[in-house]
Amino acid sequence: MYPQFETMEFKDQNDRMTRGGIYYTRIHFVREKYGTGGMQRLYNKMKEYGYNGPATEDEIKIADWYPHSYDILFLKAFKELFGESAFKRMARTVPRISGGVSDLFLKWPDNPNKLIKEGVKYWHMFYNFGRLESEVLDGGKGIIRGYGISTDPIFCELLTYYFQGLLEKAGALNVEVEHTHCVHRGDKFEEWKLTWSALDKSKNKKFSKIEWDKSLETGIDEIDEQHKYFVKILNEINIRLNNKDKGLLLEMLYFMDKYAHWHFSSEEKYMKKYNYPDYLKHHAEHERFYNYTKETIIEAKRGLDEHLEYSVNKYLIDWLINHIMGTDKKFANFLRDNNLVMENERMPSELEKVVKSTI
Ligand SMILES: [Fe+2]
Ligand SMILES: [Fe+2]
Repeated sequence: MYPQFETMEFKDQNDRMTRGGIYYTRIHFVREKYGTGGMQRLYNKMKEYGYNGPATEDEIKIADWYPHSYDILFLKAFKELFGESAFKRMARTVPRISGGVSDLFLKWPDNPNKLIKEGVKYWHMFYNFGRLESEVLDGGKGIIRGYGISTDPIFCELLTYYFQGLLEKAGALNVEVEHTHCVHRGDKFEEWKLTWSALDKSKNKKFSKIEWDKSLETGIDEIDEQHKYFVKILNEINIRLNNKDKGLLLEMLYFMDKYAHWHFSSEEKYMKKYNYPDYLKHHAEHERFYNYTKETIIEAKRGLDEHLEYSVNKYLIDWLINHIMGTDKKFANFLRDNNLVMENERMPSELEKVVKSTI
């Protein structure tokens, strides 16, 4: 079906690698959009092409590196199965849901110029080959150039839509992205011309500090109380990360792990008690958070760098917000619909002490 694919060595000869976080976001997108069945169909198609990498989000280690050929396989199978316009949507939506870029927006909200200028430097965080350069011109214009980055035309196509989504996330309006040079058309490098008009200030209000507001309330007092502390702990982690204090940061990460275990088990206690039908799914999400925490601690021990910022923002903060807004609210609705109560769960004293004294 893909003649060029047949000639592509599955094991990337040049050891070109992509970070797990990229696969994670894409697979996550497919599962959210097309369900587990859709993911299964995609996985089968990828296997037809010779893929033998991870099949679910749980199997992907976000900080690890995977062969870049997985990326190409994913893109080809995705387009083949879901079509051209779904491909475009996926590529444009990923910047909006991906924590891979959220750290950029935390630094430069509403600033497409800065994003283009500085954002290209982050390429090496996600790909171990090639490099990007950029130029910003007056009046909503910019150029991005890539050297040694494109392994396949489908990757250029992905990046074209991706840059569009990225600028849109930064609040730019009427974004147009033109792929003006391409190695697959005989040029020496990749080039994209980007144009946009005014900024939409109402978009992209994402900052590292989580503000507690009504949108985070589940309506079950006990859960909301516990979540408020959870949010405070994560804000504290971000403060310590910004202060570059490794010892204090690790201390808070270990504390968060303990707090998460207590909070999740108190939710799960009532799921089991009331035979909550979605218990296993909910539990699996909690398990995933434990894994993220473990990986984040390993990364923090290695050093406080941009990789760690990425992990904290994507895998802890984004996870918590999404989990509260989706999965926990679902459980809260179940309790409410069935007139079930969750009693006051007393926080263990060793947690309470830290919560009251440091946060
Ligand atoms: Fe929760
Ligand atoms: Fe939960």
